[in-house]
Amino acid sequence: MSDVVLRLQHVNKVFEQNTPRAVHVLHDIDLELRAGELTALIGPSGSGKSTLLNLMGLLDTPSSGELWVDGQATAQLDDAGRTRLRAHHIGFVFQFHHLIGAFNVLDNVLMPLMLQQGKPTSEQLEYALYLLNAVGLGNMERRSAKALSGGQQQRVAIARALVSRPALLLADEPTGNLDTQTAEEVFALFEQFNRETGCATLIVTHDPRLSNRCPRMIELLDGRVSG
Ligand SMILES: Nc1ncnc2c1ncn2[C@@H]1O[C@H](COP(=O)(O)OP(=O)(O)O)[C@@H](O)[C@H]1O
Ligand SMILES: [Mg+2]
Repeated sequence: MSDVVLRLQHVNKVFEQNTPRAVHVLHDIDLELRAGELTALIGPSGSGKSTLLNLMGLLDTPSSGELWVDGQATAQLDDAGRTRLRAHHIGFVFQFHHLIGAFNVLDNVLMPLMLQQGKPTSEQLEYALYLLNAVGLGNMERRSAKALSGGQQQRVAIARALVSRPALLLADEPTGNLDTQTAEEVFALFEQFNRETGCATLIVTHDPRLSNRCPRMIELLDGRVSG
């Protein structure tokens, strides 16, 4: 079906495969994420959530199984192919924002485009400013990123993840480092952008108040999807 943005079939991840230290972290994962879906990924610490997100975000490769992004199979891609697919289809937000402190807010948001193509188009620049406005930082685009609070930096990271208009947005404990009120506000931004852009959104969270707000929940237990 055309609205399947991400499909995993029989995905396994084994670290240090073929060594005595081998750890089988993900077991035979079958999953589909569709356009417009807002999904919480929950599970205890060490259950494999970050490992799964790194596979979904093409930051790492499965030990076996196949993964399709927007209908394109990824197993045969080389690094450059994976990077290109990621750049065009996937936005990623981490627990720690990984902004570049020496750059201003706007340049941090534009960074994925600069890496891809050099100078952004005027339409892209306008969209970056729209996103900054939408995350409540409309007047701060020339501020140095390191001068912002944790919540503000995470808002910049969300705008940066969305600037290439990805079909898939992955967030690994994006509110894990924020106080309750700020976490709530940042989470509401994910809900808003999911509604407005229709991008399939998967958020790892330990907070049941946030995961319970997601129409779909996936639970990982010992590297297996349960329920
Ligand atoms: N690079 C790695 N090498 C070996 N083991 C790893 C590596 N990355 C993660 N693991 C192991 O995989 C398991 C799942 O980790 P992770 O995906 O980070 O879990 P979660 O995000 O749910 O807390 C843990 O037991 C962790 O120690
Ligand atoms: Mg994790």
